[in-house]
Amino acid sequence: MSYVKLQNITKRFGSVVAVNDLSIEIEKGECFSMLGPSGCGKTTTLRMLAGFEDLDEGEISVGEQLFSSSHKGYYLPPEKRNFGMVFQAFAVWPHLNVFNNVAFPLQIRGLSRAEIGERTKSAILHTGLARYENAYPNELSSGQKQRIALARAIAINPAVMLLDEPLSNLDPKLREEMRFEIKDLQRKFGFTIVFVTHDQSEAMALSDRILVMRDGVAQQIDTPLNIYTKPANRFIFSFIGLSNFLPVVVKKGSVYIEGVEDSGPVSKTLPDGVSSDRLTLACRPSEVDLVKSGGVKAIVKRKVYLGEIIDYRIMVGGTEVRVQKGRRSTHFAEGDTCCLKFSRPIWYPGD
Ligand SMILES: Nc1ncnc2c1ncn2[C@@H]1O[C@H](COP(=O)(O)OP(=O)(O)OP(=O)(O)O)[C@@H](O)[C@H]1O
Ligand SMILES: [Mg+2]
Repeated sequence: MSYVKLQNITKRFGSVVAVNDLSIEIEKGECFSMLGPSGCGKTTTLRMLAGFEDLDEGEISVGEQLFSSSHKGYYLPPEKRNFGMVFQAFAVWPHLNVFNNVAFPLQIRGLSRAEIGERTKSAILHTGLARYENAYPNELSSGQKQRIALARAIAINPAVMLLDEPLSNLDPKLREEMRFEIKDLQRKFGFTIVFVTHDQSEAMALSDRILVMRDGVAQQIDTPLNIYTKPANRFIFSFIGLSNFLPVVVKKGSVYIEGVEDSGPVSKTLPDGVSSDRLTLACRPSEVDLVKSGGVKAIVKRKVYLGEIIDYRIMVGGTEVRVQKGRRSTHFAEGDTCCLKFSRPIWYPGD
């Protein structure tokens, strides 16, 4: 049963279509991420959901309640939507200590002193800020400030948490820790999360499902695994993880890298449903095997150690293929001849 529903929503700013006929259904308790390059419409979508932006077309509802409808001209104001929110540029009030930063939205809502105290203490405890309750923001690290923003959102006791790049100001290690903390908080409090990021590993780590957007248009809504292993198009393939795109041609039932047919076939069988004789082979650098014989003949151009991984640039004629292998795999040196085997190719029509 879907809980948060966005139906055919469109938002224009002048001639820019920021969000274009987007439909999403999110389950209760789900962590749903919106992923895509800068300017693709993630924040605009979240702002429409939060009620800060009206819709040019479409409807938004949560549970049984209508939140926004363009054709009915209906908008429930943001403060009645009861979302917890952490936005891209998180704001903490410098003149308030941690306790009062977290308590402030509850005071605005006119809750009793006792209830404010209880909810604030609990949110502070669950975000690991108990020691800093009386500290002021200028005495805290950016990770701790980010936690204030999270605690403030949790204290509202929301059914839905809207998080727009909430970890963007943290260093990589802290970012990773905070991902786990957000997941733990979700388990504890049971809220639904709509998470916006342009960091694909963050989306992969946190989400039950991911929406990949481009220029305001939904490209694919799927589990992290399917987005990675079965990307619906070239854009998604290249946006998620490292990628090679190789132009290939079909000749006499085999597939060759274009222009270097004498290096041997990439595949001796045709991919399912192929009608064209020109295709693009997409593959991850980690899914190309580097062997001594029995594959497409190639030459090692460059070899770089990246800690646990060796990063190779391999030339097949004039076409470069990036290959990554574990440190303990058979090594090849620059200038060596080698063979490539494509273990999990994905085929896209055309070049
Ligand atoms: N208030 C506004 N007025 C005019 N154009 C806007 C406004 N807000 C957003 N846009 C435009 O809408 C498009 C989508 O912007 P949005 O902020 O939703 O992108 P985003 O996916 O959140 O990007 P980022 O990853 O950089 O935060 C962009 O082209 C942006 O320039
Ligand atoms: Mg944004």
